[in-house]
Amino acid sequence: MLTIERLSKSYGKQQILCEVSFKVGAGEIVGLVGQSGSGKSTIAKCILGLERPDAGQMSWRGRSLAERTVRRTASREIQAVFQDPRSSLNPRWTVRQLLSEPLDNWTPSEEGSARGARLTALLDRVTLSGNLLDRYPHELSTGQCQRLCVARALAPDPALLVLDEPLSALDVSVQARLIELLMELHRSAGIGYLLITHDFAVAGDLCEKIVVLNEGRVVETGHAASILVHPTHTYTQGLLRDVLPPPYTQHEPK
Ligand SMILES: Nc1ncnc2c1ncn2[C@@H]1O[C@H](COP(=O)(O)OP(=O)(O)OP(=O)(O)O)[C@@H](O)[C@H]1O
Ligand SMILES: [Mg+2]
Repeated sequence: MLTIERLSKSYGKQQILCEVSFKVGAGEIVGLVGQSGSGKSTIAKCILGLERPDAGQMSWRGRSLAERTVRRTASREIQAVFQDPRSSLNPRWTVRQLLSEPLDNWTPSEEGSARGARLTALLDRVTLSGNLLDRYPHELSTGQCQRLCVARALAPDPALLVLDEPLSALDVSVQARLIELLMELHRSAGIGYLLITHDFAVAGDLCEKIVVLNEGRVVETGHAASILVHPTHTYTQGLLRDVLPPPYTQHEPK
């Protein structure tokens, strides 16, 4: 579905991404894991069309994202959720306005009552109550803000969500609820995820496939289960040692 081939990107003289390649199949959950500064968000920005790569190809449903019509389709079908939900939401807008914006952009105009029902249904999908519609972001908890960001991302009926550290700003208990919600949406709507995280434990729990990034290069790609138990690259082994208890560490080289 999404294919990234030999993507490279520099800022000035600093090479940030070097020939990054991976794929996200339809309805697949792929984890992009790496330490801070390894280039994860830069990849997300290239996919979303917010940054222009220096070299490499990206394609969506088999067609190059460099084509204007493909980019336009992808800008509806690929949606994103970022780390800090509050800074993603205009503080002067109500929940109703925040949810209406993506609908106005992507769905034909609707009568008031049909629109109202759609807004409530969207909130319901992310387990938020319809009586929040007239609240402002500062009147919501951070967890509610993040679920609202997910609802906004779902509004255009996407096929892929790019989730850039979506859990980092949340308390552990709220993280668990968001994970549950994401898994439920994946099961019920078949949405694929590119889950960007520095947390191997999260990636191991949620992802079918993991792409490990180190200093802008992919060092390892494979099934989550096999990477967690048999990491082949020393960088991956080091990351796993930091975050996971045995038995994940028992394979470390002597
Ligand atoms: N607009 C920019 N101009 C110059 N350098 C940038 C820019 N954006 C990112 N960088 C640099 O690119 C590198 C990778 O940044 P990026 O945000 O992709 O990392 P990341 O893996 O998402 O890190 P984190 O886990 O902290 O979010 C960093 O060294 C960063 O300083
Ligand atoms: Mg980042």
